[in-house]
Formats: sequence, structure tokens, C-alpha cells
Amino acid sequence: MKIRDMTFKEGHEFKIRIKPQDDSNTFAINIGHDADNIAMHFNPRFDFGGDENTIVYNSKSGGDWGEEIRECNFPFQRGEECKFYINFNNEQFYIKLPDGSMINFPNRLGDVKYKHFDVSGDARIIGIKIK
Ligand code: GAL
Repeated sequence: MKIRDMTFKEGHEFKIRIKPQDDSNTFAINIGHDADNIAMHFNPRFDFGGDENTIVYNSKSGGDWGEEIRECNFPFQRGEECKFYINFNNEQFYIKLPDGSMINFPNRLGDVKYKHFDVSGDARIIGIKIK
């Protein structure tokens, strides 16, 4: 699902509430310029591609995936609504996970404004707020 007419800028706080389906295997949040240029792909995997209960982070540039980063802290449950926060600057994304822990992901595209935002996979968006 693509979210339209939204601009995410450096210094803004992005809050998102999501409900993974009861039988969810994977879902992803993508923030970037378009489907081929994604600054942050945030991809919790319950059971997908050989990963179990792992968050995979990556970026995509000109259609090519970059190097994946994996995180084993996995504060998500199938069927349970969760909430997390994202903000960024030209160097890093800062993500506050549903258990309150923080993780960073490098802003490899290096931009300070992104307009492409989508959620894909087995989850439903409950709410989004940018301030
Ligand atoms: C692939 C997967 C993509 C994306 C990518 C991240 O294996 O099919 O959806 O998650 O990994 O590196």
C-alpha cells in the first residue's frame, strides 16, 4: 500500500501503528524516492526467506539492493498491533521499536526529504502521524 501526498523531512518524527496479520510471514516499510530508490527498507520477518523473527534492513539504489543489516531483537507478534517511531538526518535513520529499544540504520541515499512511502506484505496500517 502506497501512502500518497506525504513528505518526510529531516527532524520530523514519524509515528506508525501497524497490525501484522494473524498468519503474517513478513511485512515491510519502505521510505525513499520511488520503488527503485529506497533509503530505508524495514522488514520484520516472522518466517520468510530462511529468517525467523529477524528484522532485515536494507536500501535500494537504482533498482539494486544494498547490503542487508540483520537485527535479532524482534519485538513483534503476529496479530498484535504495534507502534514505532522513525526520524532521520542525512546520515542515519533512528528507529524506536515497539519495546522502546533504539536502532540506527545508515541513510545511504543521504537525502533529507523523502516522498515515497509504502507498507507491503502481511500487515495493515492502523495509523500514521508525522510531526
Ligand atoms: C530480498 C527480499 C526483498 C527484500 C530484500 C532486502 O530477499 O525478497 O523483499 O526484503 O531481500 O535485502
